[in-house]
Amino acid sequence: MNKFKLLLSGVCLLFGLAANAENYLISTPNTTLFVEGVKGKQLNIQYYGSRIESADEVYDSGTALWQPAYPAFGLECTREPAIQVTHADGNMSLDLLFNNVEKSTEGNAQVWKFVLSDPVYPFQVKVCYKAFQDVDVIEAWTEISHSEKKPVTLYKFASTYIPLRDNKNWLSHLHGTWTAEGYLFEEELLPGIKVIKNKDGVRNGQDDNPSFMLSFGQAPSENSGAVLGATLAWSGNYSLKFDTNHSRKTSIIAGINEDASQYVLMPKEVFRTPELAITYSMEGKGGVSRNFHRWARNHKLAHGTQLRDVLLNSWEGVYLNVNQEVMNDMMSDFSKLGGELFVMDDGWFGNKYARKTDSSGLGDWEVDVEKLPQGIGALIASAKNNNIKFGIWIEPEMVNSKSELYEKHPDWIICQNNRTPEMGRGGTQLVLDLSNPKVQDFVFGIVDDLMTKYPQISYIKWDANMNLHNYGSYYLPKDKQSHLYIDYHRGLIKVLQRIQAKYPNLAMQACGGGGGRTNYGVLPYFDEFWASDNTDALQRIYIQWGVSHYYPASAIAAHVSAEKNHQSGRIVPLKYRFDVAMSGRLGMEMQPKDIPDNEKDFARKAFATYKEIRPIVQLGDQYRLISPYERQGVASLMYISEDKKDAVFFAYRIENLRCQLTPPFKMQGLDPNKKYKLEEINYIDKKLNQHEKVISGKYLMEQGVSLNLGDEYSSMIIRLKEI
Ligand code: GLA
Repeated sequence: MNKFKLLLSGVCLLFGLAANAENYLISTPNTTLFVEGVKGKQLNIQYYGSRIESADEVYDSGTALWQPAYPAFGLECTREPAIQVTHADGNMSLDLLFNNVEKSTEGNAQVWKFVLSDPVYPFQVKVCYKAFQDVDVIEAWTEISHSEKKPVTLYKFASTYIPLRDNKNWLSHLHGTWTAEGYLFEEELLPGIKVIKNKDGVRNGQDDNPSFMLSFGQAPSENSGAVLGATLAWSGNYSLKFDTNHSRKTSIIAGINEDASQYVLMPKEVFRTPELAITYSMEGKGGVSRNFHRWARNHKLAHGTQLRDVLLNSWEGVYLNVNQEVMNDMMSDFSKLGGELFVMDDGWFGNKYARKTDSSGLGDWEVDVEKLPQGIGALIASAKNNNIKFGIWIEPEMVNSKSELYEKHPDWIICQNNRTPEMGRGGTQLVLDLSNPKVQDFVFGIVDDLMTKYPQISYIKWDANMNLHNYGSYYLPKDKQSHLYIDYHRGLIKVLQRIQAKYPNLAMQACGGGGGRTNYGVLPYFDEFWASDNTDALQRIYIQWGVSHYYPASAIAAHVSAEKNHQSGRIVPLKYRFDVAMSGRLGMEMQPKDIPDNEKDFARKAFATYKEIRPIVQLGDQYRLISPYERQGVASLMYISEDKKDAVFFAYRIENLRCQLTPPFKMQGLDPNKKYKLEEINYIDKKLNQHEKVISGKYLMEQGVSLNLGDEYSSMIIRLKEI
């Protein structure tokens, strides 16, 4: 035994480790989470990082973490716990000791469930990890159960606990608000606990997104350095805690937000926490994003590997003023531009309480016979005539007090027994209580009815424009009122699962009053999300930059809107508006007839061009090149096909100050040994000096290209093809 091993056995003794320690290497193609278990002892996390083939490297280097995989409150009381409970006898302690591991496979992923049990109480936690074998993501969650005689109350129940080895870590996360979602914030973690949490109750992506990255030992960098990324697959309130100690080492505790959510767990009931998906890359934040994008496309998003249609959404074009004629015109105009799908937004429903303003009609999902006397059937026929698909907007979790539904079922809303409910949008909006199975049936029925009557509907925009007020459920029993925040989302997911099972080909968009539903809790049931109600092209560069940290371009709905933007009042040229939207899932959000005649041809060609580059943008690898946050006057990003033969590069002028230096546009992700022909696309007047020049991948990445981009609101798209 060498000196190191001798030392190691000393360490083992010190930590009370027996020789029968089992080392579990939970690996993806390029990462490993190393868990160590000794029967009857604490389960430890020893390492998380690049893939390793043997536990010896970790032990021999003296870098093993020896930190608990799921710390419980009670015996050790100083640490921020992952779980805290009160047993029926009032005892507040838990002692979780490793018992055995259950290993299985799900698709191409390996699933590890470490069974921990309390030696005194019949209480069990399974600490679970699912390691994908085609992408570098591990999903982590727990399954909590007991067979005590009476219920046990859970006060804390994190999805996972991740101790980190490095010190001086930097946190990157997205913060925002309505019409300014997804802004990137970065800070060094200092001693203390930093908490990011959400309390909206219904949506969780509007203020802070339930995702983060940690850059180890250095300020965040796009393309280099060790970075851990995580995103919580939950649509309700969440909490992400970063507990940083005196030596600046951080432990992550992530899961459902436990505020006002203590959970009464019945004997034999299994409480499954949502998954926190984690990834690790040595290629900086960009590497983490690409890992998440691949995982999302292959495993998470609905229809993740299919191309998305180019669509026109009626909202900013006509707002609530839908009618047969206007819809017909929009469809016909959009079809002439090369559109593939038309979506009729809010305003089409309600009769006794017609949806003339946003204060009535939600809940009454019947077509407004005054606005649309020939019904949805006629709209579908018109779509067919115009050779495009038809989609429709609903907001099924909500009701207006001015609605027939509310008159019939006042007890279906979220409300306190003895108080008058506070109302939301329009002064009359209320949230339906999705913990109630009858409400779940009703919400499922909205989609089911539409799809049964009109099976040609190919897309649904599912909105949610209110947060949870008036905390209280008429359905939940007295002793389980605190389940509402959780049971609402379990109810929602049940409904979405039923819809997906019955209508597997239906495409859906998750919208939450703009970007409120940007999370992997709901995305398995949606093809895409509406990133923001802000369609201003300049601000969209920031918003789309932000959400692209965790979500792939195919899921980011990005629409060209009116020349004078409705949210910001900014006037931006059509080409710039297209160039920004073409870096995501391109669509339109305006009256197509408002495009001046002399620009219609450009718009038509832009849609055709997008269809050509769509496979690269929607299914390729993304490289963020120059960040708008670096205040260099420009922003730039690119996408490249998996075989590295085809790429699309985007550059935007975002600020134009005299004497401002423009950085060289260095590309990323190309094959250094391939030669690429550069071609400017989507131009009005061709201005790329390098048009049709052939340059090696190596040169494009090392030296880049210098672009004559132009003044404010100028932009450029370059197509690169291997020759
Ligand atoms: C929300 C959505 C918009 C639109 C309106 C309709 O604000 O984010 O896109 O659908 O509702 O009321």
